Amino acid sequence: MKVVAVATPKGGCGKTTLAIHLADWLARGGEEVVLWDLDPQQSACEWWAGGRFAFECRGGEWEEIERERERKREGWAVVDCPPGFDARGIERVGKIARVVLVPVLPSPLDLWACARWVGELAQAAHKEQERWLVVNQFERQSATVLPAVLAAARELGVQVAAGVVTRRAIYRRAALEGRSAFGYGRIGRAAQEELERLFGEVVRG
Ligand SMILES: Nc1ncnc2c1ncn2[C@@H]1O[C@H](COP(=O)(O)OP(=O)(O)O)[C@@H](O)[C@H]1O
Ligand SMILES: [Mg+2]
Repeated sequence: MKVVAVATPKGGCGKTTLAIHLADWLARGGEEVVLWDLDPQQSACEWWAGGRFAFECRGGEWEEIERERERKREGWAVVDCPPGFDARGIERVGKIARVVLVPVLPSPLDLWACARWVGELAQAAHKEQERWLVVNQFERQSATVLPAVLAAARELGVQVAAGVVTRRAIYRRAALEGRSAFGYGRIGRAAQEELERLFGEVVRG
């Protein structure tokens, strides 16, 4: 079982949005997926309960994921992590996750906070772990700051995904309607394409 953690030290960067979409993308590709919602706010479970998805969503603890990983060879666990990591949280993610996706808003302030945190995580992590910063809520108007933000991240030794997630109304609408952007046809196409590119790069690349 492959564990993908979606984690940031801050709230509101897009963890739940990214986690639901990754779980749905994998499930639509025929994979067995459990979305673990470790955030006490339980937003992923709430989103999931409002619709019909081809994957399961559970609340729980890292220990349960670890036990399941030892038991199961196949399938995926996508983990929507709570904000506010302490040393133990970092240790858990470092030990259990194969891939860590860190959504970050395209702003230097967010980037600095996240890059520092990814550095701490790297210290605690096993060797095979891959960590990716994923730019979320990208807007064309902010395109001018993006190259500088990405260069700064690379200087800090943090890998940044080439695929970015744009700020789009469909991501909010999807939560309201108990779907993901993959559950829409043409109106979701642009979102589907950017996510396929991103997930192909960071999860299946
Ligand atoms: N790419 C996006 N485009 C538009 N709205 C987004 C996007 N990503 C997240 N949001 C919105 O931003 C807010 C925070 O996202 P959320 O996924 O809940 O972050 P977190 O789980 O890190 O707190 C939510 O209202 C969500 O609908
Ligand atoms: Mg959340």
